[in-house]
This record gives sequence, C-alpha cells and structure tokens, in this order.
Amino acid sequence: MKKTIHFTLNGQKRSIDVAPTEILLEMLRERLGVKSPKCGCDRGDCGTCSVLVNGRTLRSCLMLAVEIDGAAVTTIEGLGKDGEMSPLQKTFHERNAFQCGFCAPGMILSATELLARNPEPTRDEVKEGLAGNLCRCTGYTPIIDAVLEVSRKSGEGK
Ligand code: FES
Ligand code: FES
Repeated sequence: MKKTIHFTLNGQKRSIDVAPTEILLEMLRERLGVKSPKCGCDRGDCGTCSVLVNGRTLRSCLMLAVEIDGAAVTTIEGLGKDGEMSPLQKTFHERNAFQCGFCAPGMILSATELLARNPEPTRDEVKEGLAGNLCRCTGYTPIIDAVLEVSRKSGEGK
C-alpha cells in the first residue's frame, strides 16, 4: 500500500505517494525530475547517487523513499543561492576538478558535509571524507585541492 511522505527537497516542501519498496534514487530521478543523483553501481559502491539527508551524505540507491519522510533532502541543485554556485561548485569548476562530471555531484555533496563538520580538514581528512566517491577521470588530486582551497579561503574570511 502506498504511503504519503512529506519532506523538503532543496528547501521546498514536497509530498508524494510512495510504494513501500520504492527506491529513493528512482523517486528523485524518475518521479521528481531531479537528475543529478545518478546510478553508477546500484549497490552502494560508487557514490554517484549521493544526496544529503539532514546534512549527512547518504546513498540514495540504498535507501527507500519512505525513509525520508520528515527529512530535509539536498541535491546539488539546492546548493547554490540566488543563482550563484556554492564555493565548492565554483572552485571545482575553476580548478577543473571534474572531467566527465559523473562523480561531481556526489563529490561536492560529500565535501559539503565534510566542511560543515570539519571546516579545516587536513589533506588526509579530505581523502577520508571523499573515500566513498569514485572518480574514473581525474586521479582525485584536483578534487582534493579544490576542497582544501575552499577550506583555506573560508578560513581567511574569518
Ligand atoms: S549508484 Fe549508489 S553508490 Fe553507486
Ligand atoms: S570526472 Fe569523470 S568520474 Fe569523476
């Protein structure tokens, strides 16, 4: 039997009827048209389906849609403000921290969570924070450099 769930998606209140077995990733992509979370592996290994749920990076391919009832869900579409990219989005772009871009939403969401809980991470802490996200193109160095640059610049602004 379907259940109506209520949650916020990128700051907007949403309600939708979901089946008990409906996967969050499919609901977001197929029913709500949110295309940034992608299905890379469908088994929790790659991180391309990552979304923030109440500020924590979780894999939407492994979650049931009913689990987000009452939660705040953020995808990369919700990170910028007033038409401006977030500092991480901007810096990834400036530093060419992605090539095909398939991993970028998951990487940026994981980095967003990391910097929210640890604004001045070491290089190793950045590596650890992004460890669940796979990238086939960049070799990771520009991604890690971009996260450290955002951390440094936000520290300078204090
Ligand atoms: S598609 Fe979810 S972790 Fe790979
Ligand atoms: S930029 Fe292609 S997978 Fe990361």
